[in-house]
Amino acid sequence: MSDILTETPLVRLTDCEKRYGNIIALTGVSLEVHAGEVTCVLGDNGAGKSTLIKIIAGMHQNDAGTYEVEGERVRFASPREALDRGIATVYQDLAVVSLMPVWRNFFLGSEVRKGAGPLSRLDIGFMRRTTKTELANMGIDLRDVDQPIGTLSGGERQCVAIARAVYFGAKVLILDEPTAALGVKQAGVVLRYIVRAKERGLGVVFITHNPHHAYPVGDRFLILNRGRPLGDYTRDEITRERLTALMAGGEELEQLSHELQGAAATDTELGKVAQELEHEVAELSARPMPPERPAP
Ligand SMILES: Nc1ncnc2c1ncn2[C@@H]1O[C@H](COP(=O)(O)OP(=O)(O)OP(=O)(O)O)[C@@H](O)[C@H]1O
Ligand SMILES: [Mg+2]
Repeated sequence: MSDILTETPLVRLTDCEKRYGNIIALTGVSLEVHAGEVTCVLGDNGAGKSTLIKIIAGMHQNDAGTYEVEGERVRFASPREALDRGIATVYQDLAVVSLMPVWRNFFLGSEVRKGAGPLSRLDIGFMRRTTKTELANMGIDLRDVDQPIGTLSGGERQCVAIARAVYFGAKVLILDEPTAALGVKQAGVVLRYIVRAKERGLGVVFITHNPHHAYPVGDRFLILNRGRPLGDYTRDEITRERLTALMAGGEELEQLSHELQGAAATDTELGKVAQELEHEVAELSARPMPPERPAP
């Protein structure tokens, strides 16, 4: 693992803010991505996760704060500029051409040709072979790289996209909820490739709702809540239980219970509610491995 204190991060955002008109989608958000590490960004719907990665990916610009790549201040005008610096993004709704073979999708937009000038043609043999070996290097064993990519499962398609980014020299790999639409087994497969990418020295940004997906693979955890950081931890600073409790809204409940206690000085009914909430907070943080919270 990299030396957290001395190494310059691949990506560093400091105190970033992003507004959409009057809406403050992000404020006071800082994040680091290091080579050979996975930085997880967690948060509920509307927390600002996609906004954050759009800044990193060059799709949006931050309105305040700084964005550095390998120690150098940057301001990307387009995703192309971010890609040129080795920052690749895999979106959940992958842009693939379903009926085209896997190898064709692997090289989509970067086709390899042989021969020169008007007589050049696609080097199909090279692209087939390369796709096969690159996927194998990531531990993906496809029977046939000629099969249409549409016949692969959602998890396998995510894996192909990850392998592709690795092959084309990405240093930073951003994954927006790659496990969200997947069952347990498929999610496990994608998590394995996240670890593979990290082992190959990439810095990975992994966006997810699910602390049980984030914790096993993450080195850093940024939790967002309505555009603000709710916590920023390295792996040795937080337990899985605490991460889960934070995601389950433990912190908000705690705050609510404090507020109610203040008001309860003059109202015994409120006092009771505050006590119940406090109890719930205590349970949330003490539970070894909280099951899904029942719907209220
Ligand atoms: N283009 C936009 N114009 C106006 N408001 C926006 C825009 N994009 C996002 N927002 C707002 O910014 C906030 C953060 O949105 P964002 O998409 O970053 O959240 P998210 O954490 O990715 O949520 P989800 O888990 O639902 O994908 C939300 O309140 C959203 O409504
Ligand atoms: Mg989103």
